[in-house]
Amino acid sequence: MKVLIIGSGGREAAIAWKIGQSALVNEIFVAPGNAGVQPFAECVPIAADDIQKLMEFAESKSIDLTVVGTEIPLVMGIADLFEKNGLKIFGPKKKAALLEGSKSFAKRFMKRHNIPTGEFCVCSSYDEAMKSVVAFGFPVVIKVDGLAAGKGVSIANDQTEAEKVLKTVFLDKSFGDAGRSVVIEEFLNGRELSMLCFVDGKTIVPMEGVRDYKRAFDGDKGPNTGGMGTLSPVEGYMPEIQKEFEDKIMFPTLKALKEEGIDYRGVLYFGLMLTDEGVKVLEFNCRFGDPETQVLLPRMQNDLVKVMLSVIDEKLEEQKLCWDERSAVCVIMASGGYPGNYEKGKRIVGLENIESEDLCVFHAGTQNKGGELYTAGGRVLGITALGKDLNEAREKAYQAVEQIEFEGAHYRLDIGK
Ligand code: AMP
Ligand code: GLY
Repeated sequence: MKVLIIGSGGREAAIAWKIGQSALVNEIFVAPGNAGVQPFAECVPIAADDIQKLMEFAESKSIDLTVVGTEIPLVMGIADLFEKNGLKIFGPKKKAALLEGSKSFAKRFMKRHNIPTGEFCVCSSYDEAMKSVVAFGFPVVIKVDGLAAGKGVSIANDQTEAEKVLKTVFLDKSFGDAGRSVVIEEFLNGRELSMLCFVDGKTIVPMEGVRDYKRAFDGDKGPNTGGMGTLSPVEGYMPEIQKEFEDKIMFPTLKALKEEGIDYRGVLYFGLMLTDEGVKVLEFNCRFGDPETQVLLPRMQNDLVKVMLSVIDEKLEEQKLCWDERSAVCVIMASGGYPGNYEKGKRIVGLENIESEDLCVFHAGTQNKGGELYTAGGRVLGITALGKDLNEAREKAYQAVEQIEFEGAHYRLDIGK
């Protein structure tokens, strides 16, 4: 089979690496990809949001399966376009991807179906939003409705902070159309958990739990990022929580999708908060998480392509997911300044020293120039290690991280602690 993967991050590098192990596959393309996928895949210079060009490429190369890593093309309707043209694609259609593409849609969907989530309201002007913020009290969560590359969620601790956020959204219009309305949401306290599930429209199957470290600095300080590290399985995660998630959230969501005539096929990612009042949904994503995928796929023992084909063909019930019992820890090395402004083009050295069966180095923002590696994005590398337990995995991951250098490199020291 020929497979095309869409996206350029560490998640897509992990998907390409895993798909490269499938006996069904003999050729892999990644659009646009990054320097790290080149040993086992060909990079295609088409942007992830150029869905027409991607479709033409898939047709011209007779691609057998396209896997969408990132949300933007899904929300734009790439799955509808490919299917209309008779091309196999892994990822939900436009209507289903709205669960990630519109926070107000997702919150109203949960409310209609009694899926546990924080209280909220939707506002489309500065004045209306300020009134709601005051009514909720502080801290309060403000989320722009549309896609904002992980930058659309703010936690305001007082009125001045809320005014600043809402001015950026409604007066400066910094988020463009994505900020036409905002969701004002109750602040939830607790530990976060990412649960990713495969869904084929009829059956839903959870993967193992993942903890994502979203804040930029140690001790969960600093701004939210796309994710600075992950671990799986989650220690202390109890069977009761899994049961509560399945009974109150996962199965009800599938039932609700069916009732609303939404044929969801792909990965459905539940961002959860484990609160004193029970498990609540913070968000849905319509694709694999990044860096969640960088610990899940090294632990997954199934042939990923077989699982994906079963999702497309509505045969997921025939698949049983199997997991390596070892722990995985992923540490993200980012450019200094990320998630704010950062410089690119810094030479990366030390990767050649890293070789071990228990380690994966997934590239994200990297570029190959004349055989040398340079930084080209905010999150640069994801270093995943497997170990007999969390401690061993963490130690191995940090030993590898310490051998890699680039100017301004920033990573958290407390992933898995
Ligand atoms: P989201 O994109 O909606 O998952 O939000 C990004 C991050 O903001 C989450 O991973 C949480 O860390 C935080 N967050 C979102 N909603 C809430 C909430 N209602 N209460 C507390 N923190 C939240
Ligand atoms: N790591 C969070 C996400 O993929 O959305």
